[in-house]
Amino acid sequence: MTGSLLVDNIGELVTNGSGEGGGGPLGLRRDAALLVEDGRVAWIGPARYAPAADRRIDADGAAVLPGFVDSHAHLVFAGDRAAEFAARMAGEPYTGGGIRTTVGATRAASDDELRATVRRLRGEALRQGTTTIEIKSGYGLTVADEARSLRIAAEFSEDTTFLGAHVVPAEYADRPDDYVGMVCGPMLAAAAPHARWIDVFCERGAFDVDHARAILACGQAVGLGVRLHANQLGPGPGVRLGVELGAASVDHCTHLSDADVDALASTAADGPSGRATTTVATLLPGAEFSTRSPYPDARRLIDAGVTVALATDCNPGSSYTSSMPFCIALAVREMRMTPAEAVWAATAGGARALRRDDVGVLRPGARADLVVLDAPSHLHLAYRPGVPLIRTVLHNGVPQ
Ligand code: NIG
Ligand code: FE
Repeated sequence: MTGSLLVDNIGELVTNGSGEGGGGPLGLRRDAALLVEDGRVAWIGPARYAPAADRRIDADGAAVLPGFVDSHAHLVFAGDRAAEFAARMAGEPYTGGGIRTTVGATRAASDDELRATVRRLRGEALRQGTTTIEIKSGYGLTVADEARSLRIAAEFSEDTTFLGAHVVPAEYADRPDDYVGMVCGPMLAAAAPHARWIDVFCERGAFDVDHARAILACGQAVGLGVRLHANQLGPGPGVRLGVELGAASVDHCTHLSDADVDALASTAADGPSGRATTTVATLLPGAEFSTRSPYPDARRLIDAGVTVALATDCNPGSSYTSSMPFCIALAVREMRMTPAEAVWAATAGGARALRRDDVGVLRPGARADLVVLDAPSHLHLAYRPGVPLIRTVLHNGVPQ
């Protein structure tokens, strides 16, 4: 679609940049308008000075915010683990052991079946306001299945992540060193052309810190950025490994020591190392909800100066939600985040976790990825949980 598009009569505009002051991290502007040209934001200003445009969307006093940036999702899989969820709700603990069930179903699925699932979940997320979504492999765990998972993921996202080190698959159960060698060798070689990132599940029962360090270093050596699953099920060295390697993000962060929090804070945007090297703490409250686990303490991280993102962790085992508004509501209610902090973490925070400055923010030159709410303010995302508040989504300036 060509030509200019004006989003007019915006009651509250969340820019995550320069606002009128008083809006906290959100850079709020009142009674604003926003011009889109060539898929980018071309102008932002008071509605009364809005320029002429070829087309117009009347926000009618509603809130407009950057599209959500979901920086952690596992969308390439087959099968269903609803029975495992039901067992947990009846008292069973979550161990991550069900990952192998999904690996079996994923290996047995055709490319078209996997592609259809990614398309369905990508569409579901988009309708709920997510305009950027990271997609991981990690349910193939053979050279061919990891490569095809990433090939399919890359059809839907620029931010694809190689997670060959999700768990040790059953056929390597008694020789994990051989599996790590395979991940660093032929599997990485087949995956890297389709991936921007490398990830490891660093946890008891998955990969220990030495294996995780070795795998992440191999990925870095071929140009992949580092992120990892760490400190989800218990305390451990994963978060500090992420900081040591300059990871863009450490994800879950549910069980943290003071040393973990200090290590993350030492990388923060206003710290000595600057923003390009910040390690973001990405919190995934859908996982705690769906595994009936204690939530991470976002307040402790924010008060220490850590940069926090929120993401869905959408996957068939621990968090089968694609809804960023749901995660915002959980973060506010259960993790002691203010609504403004949660909305920032679900937009600008996610962008930082992906080391992107073109999304998660509305300023001239940024991608015209935005949502018009069926509500007058961003507060409603937490104030009205479970309500479909996304009225309009623009992705690259195109109404969806
Ligand atoms: O992020 N923790 C590791 N991986 C996923 C869960 C995967 C699964 O249970 O299938 C997560 O929670
Ligand atoms: Fe995950």
